[in-house]
Amino acid sequence: MRCYEFVSSGSAFAVQVVPRPEPTVAAGRVIVRVRAVSLNYRDLIHLRNEAGRNVAGRIPLSDGAGYVVAIGAGVASVKVGDRVAGIFFTDWLGGRFEMKYHPGALGGATADGMMTEYADLAADAVVPIPDHLTYEEAACLPCAGVTAWSALMNHGGLSPDDVVLILGTGGVSIFALQLANAVGCRVIGTSSSDAKRERLRELGCRDSINYRTTPDWEKEVARLTEKRGVDCVVEVGGGGTLGKSMASVAAGGRIALIGVLTGFGPPSDSLFPIVAKNATLNGIYVGSRTDFVAMNAFLAAKAIRPIIDRTFPFDAFAESLEYLATGSHFGKVVLTL
Ligand SMILES: NC(=O)c1ccc[n+]([C@@H]2O[C@H](COP(=O)([O-])OP(=O)(O)OC[C@H]3O[C@@H](n4cnc5c(N)ncnc54)[C@H](OP(=O)(O)O)[C@@H]3O)[C@@H](O)[C@H]2O)c1
Repeated sequence: MRCYEFVSSGSAFAVQVVPRPEPTVAAGRVIVRVRAVSLNYRDLIHLRNEAGRNVAGRIPLSDGAGYVVAIGAGVASVKVGDRVAGIFFTDWLGGRFEMKYHPGALGGATADGMMTEYADLAADAVVPIPDHLTYEEAACLPCAGVTAWSALMNHGGLSPDDVVLILGTGGVSIFALQLANAVGCRVIGTSSSDAKRERLRELGCRDSINYRTTPDWEKEVARLTEKRGVDCVVEVGGGGTLGKSMASVAAGGRIALIGVLTGFGPPSDSLFPIVAKNATLNGIYVGSRTDFVAMNAFLAAKAIRPIIDRTFPFDAFAESLEYLATGSHFGKVVLTL
């Protein structure tokens, strides 16, 4: 079979296609013929070696969907032909997160990912995908979808009266917009591009702010909410945006701390607004299998389809990663296998 592996390239990594033997199925495991994968900012972090993880020799990407071609002894939860997606943390099936789940994160330094024609996964590490989604759409769910779900629906406890703030128009943020819309919330968005703001508006995000031309965008959030602030911030920026997110959150509101788009550095602002506002700041690291299943039921009930910006062929993996790195996408970047 053909798959990609990370290879060392100076102080960082590149990807190259390599042959590997097709996996044979073991007890308790399944083999998935991967039909589509999606890219996440995390994959750029690995390539650029920004988190200091040695991914050399590993198959990249956490997110893929396909159909089961073989099941091992003792597997009763899935059958050959089932349409499935892999879960991000293969050992986090439900309940509270534990540090022992980290090594099972697909497509990282310690577990092969989904950029392969055939993936060998524990039977518990796949979930059925919603019937209304194509493989390409389902491949968008495991990381970006589940992360947005965890931020808003688990920890966020979203209600229709809530106002949600999303930052930028990448995979997690656009999922968050779709979920919040489906609950009936008002969403305020930010983007560096007025053309993307127009797309936000078409997707139901009435208010948006260009964070390049309006660098004090937290003041605009205050104006749009009549100084009350927002109930939930989907914080994908990290240290460089956290100060503005703290300024934007309402008293008693929540900041779901997810991303590092401004880098891994510490926040440049005092954390005291969290105290003064009685706000909640909670870290989100994707979610469990239980979260993924609950999200899929919601997506099916609301007929939500992930927003795919562009689809590349298997052979254009390096090109697709370069495209993601430009930040010109809106929603998700996908490859078909
Ligand atoms: N903790 C977790 O479980 C988890 C899960 C998934 C992702 N993440 C993290 O969350 C972040 C987003 O991931 P993703 O995959 O959704 O990324 P993505 O699809 O690559 O999104 C990139 C977009 O973010 C926006 N952006 C970039 N810099 C920004 C800034 N300073 N302020 C506001 N928006 C900015 C830009 O949107 P515009 O072009 O509209 O400006 C850009 O196009 C990443 O840091 C990723 O590592 C964490």
